[in-house]
Amino acid sequence: MEKLRIVFVAMVAFVLVLEGVHGICNVSNDGLMECKPCIQNDNPTDAPTKACCAALESADFKCLCKYKDSYVLKTMDINSTRAMELPQLCSIPNAPVSCKSVKRGTPSN
Ligand SMILES: *[C@@H]1O[C@H](CO)[C@@H](O)[C@H](O)[C@H]1NC(C)=O
Ligand SMILES: *[C@@H]1O[C@H](CO)[C@@H](O)[C@H](O)[C@H]1NC(C)=O
Repeated sequence: MEKLRIVFVAMVAFVLVLEGVHGICNVSNDGLMECKPCIQNDNPTDAPTKACCAALESADFKCLCKYKDSYVLKTMDINSTRAMELPQLCSIPNAPVSCKSVKRGTPSN
């Protein structure tokens, strides 16, 4: 069992690396890394950096919502509750307040 788990985690990490080449949901990999200190579970910073907010301005939030509860965030040690607060912390005007308003019953969450 443990071996299977390791394989699975390795696969997720691999997918992440692959996606990381272009970033996810129109947020560059650099942008994600800028935001990570603010939304990680371990000792997060109070406010996102300017670079993080700048990266989020062109983010595809509907797309990001699909990652909300995904294993990807858990693997990266990101607090998804906090991640969803980022647009507000950055005062991004057209960002959805919550994923509920943009999620239309997509089966694969
Ligand atoms: C993606 O980001 C670029 C700028 O970085 C922006 O011009 C474009 O509109 C964005 N695309 C989407 C789908 O939000
Ligand atoms: C995640 O973030 C929320 C909001 O900032 C906070 O209340 C919660 O305690 C955090 N969870 C963990 C596991 O750090």
